Amino acid sequence: MSKPLQIEVHNPSGKYRVISTKPMPGTRWINLLIEQDCRLEICIQKKTILSVEDILALIGDKCDGVIGQLTEDWGETLFSALSRAGGKAFSNMAVGYNNVDVNAATKYGVAVGNTPGVLTETTAELAASLSLAAARRIVEADEFMRAGLYNGWLPHLFVGNLLKGQTVGVIGAGRIGSAYARMMVEGFKMNLIYYDLYQSTRLEKFVTAYGNFLKANGEEPVTWKRATSMDEVLREADMISLHPILDKTTYHLVNKERLSKMKKEAILINCSRGPVIDEVALVEHLKANPMFRVGLDVFEDEPYMKPGLAEMKNAVIVPHIASASKWTREGMATLAALNVLGKIKGYPVWSNPNSVEAFLDEKSTPPAACPSIVNSKAIGVPISKL
Ligand code: GLV
Repeated sequence: MSKPLQIEVHNPSGKYRVISTKPMPGTRWINLLIEQDCRLEICIQKKTILSVEDILALIGDKCDGVIGQLTEDWGETLFSALSRAGGKAFSNMAVGYNNVDVNAATKYGVAVGNTPGVLTETTAELAASLSLAAARRIVEADEFMRAGLYNGWLPHLFVGNLLKGQTVGVIGAGRIGSAYARMMVEGFKMNLIYYDLYQSTRLEKFVTAYGNFLKANGEEPVTWKRATSMDEVLREADMISLHPILDKTTYHLVNKERLSKMKKEAILINCSRGPVIDEVALVEHLKANPMFRVGLDVFEDEPYMKPGLAEMKNAVIVPHIASASKWTREGMATLAALNVLGKIKGYPVWSNPNSVEAFLDEKSTPPAACPSIVNSKAIGVPISKL
């Protein structure tokens, strides 16, 4: 028999047994659970990705709810086990939930929580950071310095792209895509082209107003355009950031053919989900087009990279850290814990999952509601009137 996973127990005599498959940032989420009569068991095993078997062992015979991570495979096996153990609540500590089979959860009457509302700016800021790092070749230049190769200023040393006056393309102009677009337009005076099934009126108004402001001050105004196809964005933009959700329709959205439509010196940023890009095709494209650059936070087979990517100087690569600001990660932990707690307590679901300030105010007791349950309708959780 394999050795049990290491756990840390809080409030051992609590009535409801809640598992967190990982330690999470901050302490508020822990306090909120134990103040409400939960026995909290946090898995502290030094193993980055827990297997389905590991999580089955954590769930055991009695478990009221689980807070899990986007690296875990939450499907039929885990939801049936959770349901057998008496559990009715699961929350991902993430806004994305492509690791969760929501239909399976619904079949067993298990609520699936996620954590929107706290990631928008943090994720957009990382996309902006990757954009700048790629445009100005920051990582290459840093490596060069550390390698002791700097012998003095040179006219050609690490020449990159000026963003001002160039066009930023956004594919998926939802909350994060729009926040990123605003940062790039306002911060760097880029023109915007975006593609989304829905019109982003607020974003358009923002760019128009900022353009008018610049014009009134004697500067070239920024402009916006809503593209009628994704390919239009690929053809016209100098910098493109991907912000779709991952599903069947967005798998390998950027493939060999689409890469070939982009400008030879374009920059591609991905902080959404790895499989949105065909990574093998991307490596080939980076090899063939040394002036084309990418900034990647996510990878097709995380935690692995496709062969050759790590060697590409024209790629800036970071380990899925888009939401990794202290405020956001603590907020995500709080929201995930409150999703599980709320379902255990029989609370309704918050009416606007993107407006979650009331749950984050450390000085007050959070509302008696689950902040965000994605299958609330299907499992019959009513909407809060608070
Ligand atoms: C992070 O990738 C998230 O979906 O929260």
